[in-house]
Parts: sequence; C-alpha cells; structure tokens
Amino acid sequence: MERTFSMIKPEAVINKVSGKIITAIEEHGLKIIAQKMLQLSKEQACCFYAAHRDKAFFNELINNITAGPVIVQVLSGDNAVEDYRSLMGAANPASAEEGSLRKLYGISIEKNAVHGSDCAQTAEREIAFFFNQLEIMS
Ligand code: CMP
Repeated sequence: MERTFSMIKPEAVINKVSGKIITAIEEHGLKIIAQKMLQLSKEQACCFYAAHRDKAFFNELINNITAGPVIVQVLSGDNAVEDYRSLMGAANPASAEEGSLRKLYGISIEKNAVHGSDCAQTAEREIAFFFNQLEIMS
C-alpha cells in the first residue's frame, strides 16, 4: 500500500463541492486514512509551497490557498500517488481530462480545486507537514 497527500482547496470548500470530491475519491477506490479542515496562515502556506517560491505565480498561489479553509487528507491505495493524480487530472482545468476533479470542479489553473503529491517522497513530506502519527489510521 502506498500513501499520498491530498488537499481540497479553498475555492472547492467555499463552492460547497468538497463532499462531491470526497465521494469521488472513495468511489475511485482510494481509502481516506486521515482527514481534517484547517485554514493555513501565509507563513505556513509559504513553507508548504516552498518549492514554488521563485515562480511568478507564487504570491497569487499563497493568496488563493489562504483565502479560506482547506480539507487535508491522507489517501492510501495501490499506486496511490499516480492513482490520485489521474483522478485529479491536469493542473489546468481547461486542459484536464473529462470527468477529472479539476475538470469538474476547478475554476482556473490558480483555483484548480485540489492538490495532490507529485511523488511518494513528496507525499511523505506533505503528510508529515499536516499530520502526526496518532491522526493517521494504519
Ligand atoms: P498545486 O497542485 O496546488 O501545486 C501548485 C499550484 O500552483 C498548482 O496546483 C496551481 O494551482 C498553481 N499553478 C501552477 N502553475 C501555475 C501557473 N502557471 N500559473 C498560476 N498558478 C499556477
């Protein structure tokens, strides 16, 4: 079993589609083994997205991700990282696959509804950023 990290972004929570996204994750066969809602501070968001610090869109990214509550999750499954990336679809909703979460619920590349880890190593770092051992079901 592999683990990945998922974040349902503020635009999806504000637009009241977080329940639909959670249902899609479960129906896709990924198991939710940890979940909570919180609002990131700008400092926390800068730390979480540190890899994008030099990108032109960094400030906009931080403003968007701190605009409201997010739902963070740990997902488990065979090949969970790639499986969730395929469920999310391409980063830009305009070019995301039909039926993918970003196609269905994303508004723009800046407000693309969900984030998922890009590889297993990143997943473990992102999981540890938000969850302690006691909060994750084994
Ligand atoms: P996410 O998976 O959360 O990882 C970083 C985020 O930066 C990404 O989703 C997008 O929301 C955002 N992003 C990526 N590329 C661009 C871009 N070219 N312009 C604006 N935002 C972007």
